[in-house]
Amino acid sequence: MRTAAGIPPESASLKARPKRSIPGLTLSNSSSKFPARPFQYTHASAQSDEQLVCGPHSLLALASQYGTPLYIYSADQILERLALFQQALLARRHLVCYAVKANSSLAILKLLAAHGAGFDIVSGGELQRVLAAAPEAANRVVFSGVGKTAEEIDLALDANILAFNVESEAELTLLAARAAKRKRKARFALRVNPDVFAETHPYISTGLREHKFGIDIRQARRIYREAAGNRWLAAHGVSVHIGSQIRSAEPFGAAMLRVAALVRQLQRDGIPIQTVDAGGGLGIDYHLGVDNNSSFHPKAKVEEYAAAIELALKGLDVQLLLEPGRFLVAQAGVLLARVLTVKRNGKKTFVVTDAAMNDLIRPALYQAFHEIVPVVPRPGRAAAVDIVGPVCETGDFFARDRKMKPIEPGDLLAILDAGAYGMAQSSNYNTRPRPAEVLLHGDQAALIRRRETIADLLATEL
Ligand code: LLP
Repeated sequence: MRTAAGIPPESASLKARPKRSIPGLTLSNSSSKFPARPFQYTHASAQSDEQLVCGPHSLLALASQYGTPLYIYSADQILERLALFQQALLARRHLVCYAVKANSSLAILKLLAAHGAGFDIVSGGELQRVLAAAPEAANRVVFSGVGKTAEEIDLALDANILAFNVESEAELTLLAARAAKRKRKARFALRVNPDVFAETHPYISTGLREHKFGIDIRQARRIYREAAGNRWLAAHGVSVHIGSQIRSAEPFGAAMLRVAALVRQLQRDGIPIQTVDAGGGLGIDYHLGVDNNSSFHPKAKVEEYAAAIELALKGLDVQLLLEPGRFLVAQAGVLLARVLTVKRNGKKTFVVTDAAMNDLIRPALYQAFHEIVPVVPRPGRAAAVDIVGPVCETGDFFARDRKMKPIEPGDLLAILDAGAYGMAQSSNYNTRPRPAEVLLHGDQAALIRRRETIADLLATEL
């Protein structure tokens, strides 16, 4: 076996990585036990060609059984990632609240809930999903989001969620009013904006004062003190979220230091803060490279991240909440697409697939890079091609000028690292039914969402 991008997961170069020094932590260098992706090539044999598989599952067979475009996820890898966080935080009371927005499929919520996860939601709809998948997890839900409606707040109060992450003074006033009306005390955390810069795409960076998110950390103490007079509000925690796809632990530590100083101040003020919510945002490596000589080791990443947070919280007796989304599900997923045609326009070669920007919008929206590999590789020389969908937009591409081995119509391509913000951000643009989803768990493969039909799409129209 070798990984999707071509190198044995147990390679010597991974094992030989030096330990990095983070204060208070010895990093394990055994991350080769946790390959970045669960998709690997088999060796060609007399009976079969080399092909991409996930454990015992042939992606070729899944594509013929369920059709394409098709999202496929590895439950085993999702659970492995959850366990990495849980283990790295063993020394502190903690709760991993999976960010539902990354992939809100009910089966994935159910899987995570059964293994102790809580949830970070940003809408009434996401709460309904959690309640449908795992009603027993309602008291492990935190409700984030910069604009909550009265109806959404009511729903969450009735479900008795763990806490509201409140993003403005007006929202706190609304929360108090709804709580009073329903005679239910609302536990809240202010989502503070720590004014910390984190290197990421500008659309998904959130931790600066100029962003729409959170409450200026300099105003927080006053707001907590004012709220202390309201019998329907219970100050429960302090929360922060500085952005997404952040590769370095350093900005998380910097934000946490500011939060920790606020918590100490509040505790001196007699406000009994019980939780600190560090938000989500830990990034993955989308560029594992064709030779897979990557420095991305999920276990080491999580340990480094947890250590940076722990260092900042040292001495504080609070429960730590985390809201990872991408890190748990991105690399567990692929989008399988069938090649419809290969066409040449002038100097360019376009590989047109049956998947499009409506199925996975990340390349079009953020110029995001997703590695794309053939399910059954063909021999021959690599040449630069654009891999595009059939949607009537020039922005409908998955890759531009990407060096690929020969590709023929009918071939299957796997778009990697598509488990997060893939299906969750899909649409019906061009009246395209959305893909089916399959969840692989051990030797089981389950269809967790059937392919949409045109009848589904027309059903809401009068
Ligand atoms: N908590 C809050 C309050 C958030 O806003 C987010 C993501 C998360 C947690 C989870 O962040 P993660 O661990 O997944 O980075 N669609 C974009 C990403 C948008 C992230 C929005 N907020 C993408 O495809 O890259």
